[in-house]
Amino acid sequence: MSVLPASTPGLLGGVSVAGWGTALPARRVTNDDLARTLDTSDQWIVERSGIRERRWAGPGETTGPLAIAAARRALARARIAPADVDVVVVATCTPETPMPSTAALVASELGVGAGAFDVNAACAGFVYTLTTASSLLQAGVAHTALVIGADTITSILDKSDRSTAVLFGDGAAALVLTGGPALEPGAPGLVASDLVNDPAGFDLLGVPAGGALLPATAETVAAGQHFLRMDGREVFRRAVRAVEASITRTLARAGVTADDVALFVPHQANARIVEAVLSRTGIPAARTSSTVDRYGNTSAASIPLALAEAAEAATVASGELVLLCGFGAGLTVGTALWRWGTPTPSGREAA
Ligand code: ACO
Repeated sequence: MSVLPASTPGLLGGVSVAGWGTALPARRVTNDDLARTLDTSDQWIVERSGIRERRWAGPGETTGPLAIAAARRALARARIAPADVDVVVVATCTPETPMPSTAALVASELGVGAGAFDVNAACAGFVYTLTTASSLLQAGVAHTALVIGADTITSILDKSDRSTAVLFGDGAAALVLTGGPALEPGAPGLVASDLVNDPAGFDLLGVPAGGALLPATAETVAAGQHFLRMDGREVFRRAVRAVEASITRTLARAGVTADDVALFVPHQANARIVEAVLSRTGIPAARTSSTVDRYGNTSAASIPLALAEAAEAATVASGELVLLCGFGAGLTVGTALWRWGTPTPSGREAA
């Protein structure tokens, strides 16, 4: 381990981000590429979503390999050996296989004998994963966690449906978390979170077949029931309201305001949804991460991809507050307020 036990006197304790890594498919698909086969245009896609291009997976670039590549990069950056990982948690709604979990695949490939499980909260998945993993650390159940958001939405995308095909991309990103219980106020890690669901939005977005209700058959495939279907307009309307409410509750629980947020990392589904949330919450656009123009909606990977890019660019400093908010099928919403901290060279957890 690169850190001292959390019980060492004189330390803040808490959970630090020791490393981060990303993995994206090589193939760039621009709006003009899509307009060659679909009745759409670069202008429509940019105006309605802010997306200019996305990455689509090729052979060997599915959820598992992307998650493994991101995990290896995060561990290398953290200078933590795979053998020191206690738990692997993967947020995904397009797992490499229905069973075993993608987390078990990652652990197996890394040769890690750690606990491993997936979390499915669709595009909100990474916030649920981060909350779950950091809670395990703060409870002292584990000391080092590998948390990953990875999705290959193109595996469930009807590429002839212009209403969904233009919005999604593939990718993965991973964080290495280390630490334990917060020993002092101001310790790094999870400050407050809000995990909720909009029950009335359950039917707005999903994949009808391939589960226990409707196992995949030649008929379900012929009917395209293995593809993602979405009422985009209604998802948009409900998501803006639910995200605003979830952020408001999270900030209130922490006793802070939008002014105290140094970095906002929203789910990258649509630039217009983010703009609406910013105007309702008062979070400045200048403090908001954006990757939607380059990667589109990468589902559970979107928040960690944007967070890893911000961390790489040193956009956030130790002790500052990062607000993460995702929404997706369910309609599931998750918000986490996180105090940024990285382990110091001496091995202390520092905020
Ligand atoms: N190109 C051109 N025209 C299109 C396209 C396209 N790609 N897609 C739809 N249109 C047309 C529609 O057919 C419609 O035409 P009509 O008026 O003749 O009926 C018109 O454009 C307007 O369609 P709307 O759906 O009303 O367009 P809107 O402004 O709502 O934008 C969008 C659509 C981009 C899908 C938006 O609603 C959205 O982003 N919704 C949220 C989606 C989302 O965030 N999903 C996250 C879930 S992630 C998860 O859990 C996996």
